[in-house]
Amino acid sequence: MNFHMAQKMNTAEFPDLGTLEEQVLFASHYAVRAPSTHNSQPWLFRIGANTVEVHADWAKKLPYGDKDGRDMCISVGACIEHTRVAFSYFGMLEGLVVNEAVVLSDKKPIAIFMVHRSTGTDETLLQTICAIEGRFNARGPFLKKEIPHALLRGIEEASEPGISFAILTEHADIMRFADLTGEGMRVAHRVPEFRGEIAKWMINNYSKKKEGIPGYTMLAPGLLSLILPSLIGRFNLGGVLSKLNHLSIASSSGVIIFSSKDSPSSWVHVGMLFARMSLSLNVENIRTSVYVASIEMPDIRSRLKELLPTDEMPQFACAFGYPKVTLRQSPRHEPKDRMIQ
Ligand SMILES: Cc1cc2nc3c(=O)[nH]c(=O)nc-3n(C[C@H](O)[C@H](O)[C@H](O)COP(=O)(O)O)c2cc1C
Repeated sequence: MNFHMAQKMNTAEFPDLGTLEEQVLFASHYAVRAPSTHNSQPWLFRIGANTVEVHADWAKKLPYGDKDGRDMCISVGACIEHTRVAFSYFGMLEGLVVNEAVVLSDKKPIAIFMVHRSTGTDETLLQTICAIEGRFNARGPFLKKEIPHALLRGIEEASEPGISFAILTEHADIMRFADLTGEGMRVAHRVPEFRGEIAKWMINNYSKKKEGIPGYTMLAPGLLSLILPSLIGRFNLGGVLSKLNHLSIASSSGVIIFSSKDSPSSWVHVGMLFARMSLSLNVENIRTSVYVASIEMPDIRSRLKELLPTDEMPQFACAFGYPKVTLRQSPRHEPKDRMIQ
């Protein structure tokens, strides 16, 4: 099955009678639908006799956009959470150990799943697995529609060790986050190397590439998508992009900001928690849209921290709401192409 072209995955095609490896490969299609910085998909898998290791593909670290490796670790954390959901849904999960001492560029796995052949699906997770099928990072405007409080209270119950989060729904707080994100975008786009890096990761709407950010996910129509990467790379469009991000965030129903200490293992847990909360929102057709520009610049990050009731530094943030437009999903590499021996 071609998951990228089909967009819609089909749990009914799970190989019930297949080998453990075939079942793992199938389930991994849900793992790789995790969000990642620049859609770089910086994860690798190793299948053992009864284990599946998730590794970071350190070669994918963005030299300018992600100097500390934070976004990369968060992306791998999101992939671990998607993997956990998929193995749980397909009745294959025995256990999960997360590496609590991740060192950048190290060869050790970030997580090890203990797995067995499927013993049947866990239908309590059906909505979450469907949320993985349908999810997308919702760049663009949101509808003016309030989110039921009870629903947000439910989302607030999620937790991961060492991670705190704040769900901001007051208009003034959302606007403050929009302002700081806009400022972060303008500062970041002044740096030609940063722009060049984004341009390299952008792909046009007709591209067959299986990674990178397609123009259609930035609401760019076909022709514009052909020239957008070179426009962004060559000219400082920080002002325009900052305004667009500001408009999107300002129209959202709320913002979630995740804080923790500055360590790669904490970032992995941030990614796991974000993915879990995002999928819970997606179950309700509420989409999330990630914005990390306010976190990348130390000065802006300190000002963002003032919005939070915690001493720890903000690591990651997303806006959420009911999107005005349903975006076509970004491509993904086939899991079989992300395996290490
Ligand atoms: C750690 C991380 C940082 C991200 N930063 C941004 C960001 O600052 N702005 C943005 O528009 N999208 C951001 N994204 C969203 C990714 O670009 C998006 O997840 C990726 O292109 C794949 O698309 P999808 O989530 O729709 O599948 C980020 C995602 C992650 C996981």
